Amino acid sequence: MPTIVPFTREKREDKAIYYTSLIKDMKILVATEKPFAKKAVDGIREIVEGAGYTLSLLEKYTDKAQLLEAVADVDALIIRSDKVTAEVIDAAHNLKIVVRAGAGYDNVDLAAASARGIVVMNTPGQNSNAVAELALGMMVYMARNQFTSGTGSELSGKTLAIHAYGNVGKLVGRKGAACGMNVVAYDPFIKDDSVFAADGVKKVDSVEELYACADYLSLHIPATEQTKGSIGYDLLMSMPKGATLINTARKEVIDEEGVAKALTEREDLKYITDIAPAMHDLYCEKFGKRYFGTPKKMGAETAEANINAGLAAARQIVDYFVNGNVKFQVNK
Ligand code: 3PG
Repeated sequence: MPTIVPFTREKREDKAIYYTSLIKDMKILVATEKPFAKKAVDGIREIVEGAGYTLSLLEKYTDKAQLLEAVADVDALIIRSDKVTAEVIDAAHNLKIVVRAGAGYDNVDLAAASARGIVVMNTPGQNSNAVAELALGMMVYMARNQFTSGTGSELSGKTLAIHAYGNVGKLVGRKGAACGMNVVAYDPFIKDDSVFAADGVKKVDSVEELYACADYLSLHIPATEQTKGSIGYDLLMSMPKGATLINTARKEVIDEEGVAKALTEREDLKYITDIAPAMHDLYCEKFGKRYFGTPKKMGAETAEANINAGLAAARQIVDYFVNGNVKFQVNK
């Protein structure tokens, strides 16, 4: 029997989940093809079991069938970039909440979840510093010829352009500024100019303006129907001589053919990405040290990010079951 935590909200509209959580031993599954650090899993267990619920783990799974089987009787699911498709949702008969421990939730079929009344949340900001540090490291790596021989260059004095000024974009901007870079940003969703001004960042009004001034362009846009394949030939060709594109966002936002064409026509351009594109082998062969792609997405691969995001996910689930808190719901 789970520990009963007093229900404090008087005006909650739907108490069904809360009452279910009192009479039922909620089952929470952590399904991570790319596992969390052990410390993060221990912390998740402490929160889940502390609330009186049961935790199960499906780590490093290699087959979708394993996920379909594991979700069959769970009430809540914690994932990373794991794909929660309509098929997974169909197989999860008791599922009430999915928390993506991280920022991007393009891996969850929101329509299928909403159709079943399943709440989907992310944990915004929890792994941002890890991703921002990687972006900065990637800039240095490319500026120094991938740590091989030859004369490199410095970040100081160069223009760092941030495409989308959210949690990660802001941190990349601040770290770049600390290295002496001139930081410029574009984000059509931020209407309040003081957000940029507070960081001493110059705001530009179009994506074209941003790329045209970028010695380093750090991408932080999500993968949506609007952004998929949106970064390609024209934008790259407009970048200054010797410019570098850094992608710690999503591989899907890149028009791979367009980028290949630009890198072929402009031998001064460079591209580094956190998760290899479909054309990785061709890029390696054609562009040598002007291109680098990590074999597996590693932006959030730090113990700190795993702990921050994993524990936040566990807390959000308990808070949902106990208090009905939907602050981080993304499918409202
Ligand atoms: C995110 O969207 O939070 C990052 O891309 C991290 O993804 P990961 O948890 O799969 O490493």
